[in-house]
Amino acid sequence: MSKPLVLVNFKTYQTASGDAALNLLEAMEQYGNGPATLVAAVSAFDLSPLSSASSSVEIWSQHLDPVGLGGYTGWLEPTTARSRGAVGTLINHAEHKVPIEHVEELLKMLPDGFPVCACAADVEEAKALAELGPTFIAVEPPELIGGDISVTTADPSIVSDTVAAVKAVNPSVRVLCGAGVKNGMDVATALELGAEGVLLASGVTKATDVHAVLKDLVAQL
Ligand code: G3P
Repeated sequence: MSKPLVLVNFKTYQTASGDAALNLLEAMEQYGNGPATLVAAVSAFDLSPLSSASSSVEIWSQHLDPVGLGGYTGWLEPTTARSRGAVGTLINHAEHKVPIEHVEELLKMLPDGFPVCACAADVEEAKALAELGPTFIAVEPPELIGGDISVTTADPSIVSDTVAAVKAVNPSVRVLCGAGVKNGMDVATALELGAEGVLLASGVTKATDVHAVLKDLVAQL
């Protein structure tokens, strides 16, 4: 049984970009060998410095495009991201939606064992994504993203229903949940609902005491 995943999306928060991203990573490193697998999904601009600085935290990209080297202005080309230290990626985040073919093509071109977390807004989208066999599916109701109420409190059934639906399609896909996740109780509830981890951002990136939040997030595991 793998450890639960605590995936922190740095987004483009000022508190999680450039030097601040390095500081945040340093804080996460203190919990990286604990009961959870910690992942930082960082800006493409920060992949190199953060992957060089990380030891116990996995550094992921926030997005990748299914393109090769060549004439693809502004796209995030996967082999370059990997050479800059990305060891996994988010895709189809609510703030960066893509057609399902984009996810399909991307999965085909990534090497085996490179974890991909495809985000879904609801159970139906999660089911469609599960057909493609990503490593993880994170269900996140868009209206709860960035808010104060965790999905595990506001809509627990979307978590358990997504787990059931995804496992029925492909039992090897691991389900995460996110939106409003802030503390260890939210993480514990997510696991009770059948999720295998959480995807969160503002609870960490906007925390006044990052260490206290990180400690609490893994406290009940
Ligand atoms: O990617 C995580 C995310 O969309 C949830 O954000 O701020 O509600 O934890 P937040």
